[in-house]
Amino acid sequence: MRIIIAYLSYSGNTKEVAELIESRLLEEKISVEMHRIGIDRPFDPEDYDYVFIGTFTWATGSTPDEVKDLILEIGYKPDNIAIFGTGDTQFGGDNLFCKAAIKLAKFYNSKWEPLKIEQSPRGSQETMIDEWIEGVLHDVKSIA
Ligand SMILES: Cc1cc2nc3c(=O)[nH]c(=O)nc-3n(C[C@H](O)[C@H](O)[C@H](O)COP(=O)(O)O)c2cc1C
Repeated sequence: MRIIIAYLSYSGNTKEVAELIESRLLEEKISVEMHRIGIDRPFDPEDYDYVFIGTFTWATGSTPDEVKDLILEIGYKPDNIAIFGTGDTQFGGDNLFCKAAIKLAKFYNSKWEPLKIEQSPRGSQETMIDEWIEGVLHDVKSIA
């Protein structure tokens, strides 16, 4: 079982979520690779059983360009993509909160609801991450 976690993070929140997910997967003895979107060399989704993509949301609910480039780079819609994102309800309220993650999950017809984290995941939101991973891993294990 191999999973890649591709994420984009400017100020560190999405990176924190990515790292928390990574540590949970490692606890499950799953082989995990980290991919910094826009920095690391392109990867082939076919080399992985599951691809996790993490993004923050930019101005008025938009998807960062680096993530759009990744989508073009991937070039098709793999059926094994799970999406997580961070955002801030202070920018446009609930309607725009984590909109990029929501749009991405819809685009890929992801089997899983996107994980939406407000700013830093440290503290009470860690439980949300645990529950989200449990949901994804439940399916991963039943297929493995
Ligand atoms: C100019 C600007 C616009 C933003 N617009 C939104 C938005 O529309 N929706 C949202 O949920 N968060 C928005 N955010 C909040 C970021 O998505 C949030 O701080 C995120 O955690 C940053 O991720 P990072 O720390 O991984 O870079 C905005 C932040 C900035 C600076």
